[in-house]
Amino acid sequence: MDVNREELIASLGGEAAVKGMDHEARADALEDYMSAKLDAQVAARTSGKKYPTVAELESKVDSRGYRRGAGKLFIHERSNQNPDADESGKRVARLEPMPEKATLVDFFKLRFPPAAHLLQSARLARKNGLSEEIILACLLHDTGQYLCRADHGYWGAQIVEPYVSERVTFAIKYHQALRFYPDRSVNYEYPEGYFTTFGIDYEPLPHVKAAYEYARNHKWYMDARMVTTNDLYAFDPNVKVEIEEFTDIIGRNFRHPKEGLGNDNTPVTHMWRTMAIPDAPL
Ligand SMILES: [Fe+2]
Ligand SMILES: [Fe+2]
Repeated sequence: MDVNREELIASLGGEAAVKGMDHEARADALEDYMSAKLDAQVAARTSGKKYPTVAELESKVDSRGYRRGAGKLFIHERSNQNPDADESGKRVARLEPMPEKATLVDFFKLRFPPAAHLLQSARLARKNGLSEEIILACLLHDTGQYLCRADHGYWGAQIVEPYVSERVTFAIKYHQALRFYPDRSVNYEYPEGYFTTFGIDYEPLPHVKAAYEYARNHKWYMDARMVTTNDLYAFDPNVKVEIEEFTDIIGRNFRHPKEGLGNDNTPVTHMWRTMAIPDAPL
């Protein structure tokens, strides 16, 4: 198996962390890294699915009417402008207006539905006995995607930063990079779905590698890592989780502005407003 030296060093927490390891620890880490990567590749090959390559995904860029990084509120991915779509030619939905003093729960009910991925991830974190901050981070971890899918961890962290603790912001921001890097200590493997999304031969971009190395050595590493271990993709379509299940945690950990999200005066107010009225032409 090929070992990408840079990726390996990044997966161990960067040059400094590797220098601090003794020989035996380095050998164990190398074995762990190789077996984690190998497991992911074997799982991908034996699943019977055909995964695209990076080049195949790139070849479709100019056959879509939108870019893949566009926020979920602004496109319907199964619209007839998508080369991978079925024939249904789906359209975006007409949106109900938001209440004047909109809360996070209002956004979950009126702009983020069905949000099954977020709600089921948060429920899993709660079932796993994680702290309220981690449960909230799981609930919010992909909300940035409604605005912009590209670099969604950063967008997601930024929109909530004025309203949550620094730890919650950190966990949301760095889950994006950590998703690419296995951590056997908590049974976190490379997600098979990423072979489809990014291509079977994808290498994370340099800023993602750098973010991973930074987070790996941070005292809150496990907070962000816990978001990735509860980041539930194989969610059950028959399980319906309501946002009300988390109103207690939101109440204690999300400082709602009295004017409502999108009406207060923070550096991110306009981002909530954009999500409230995504049909605004300018
Ligand atoms: Fe994510
Ligand atoms: Fe996620």
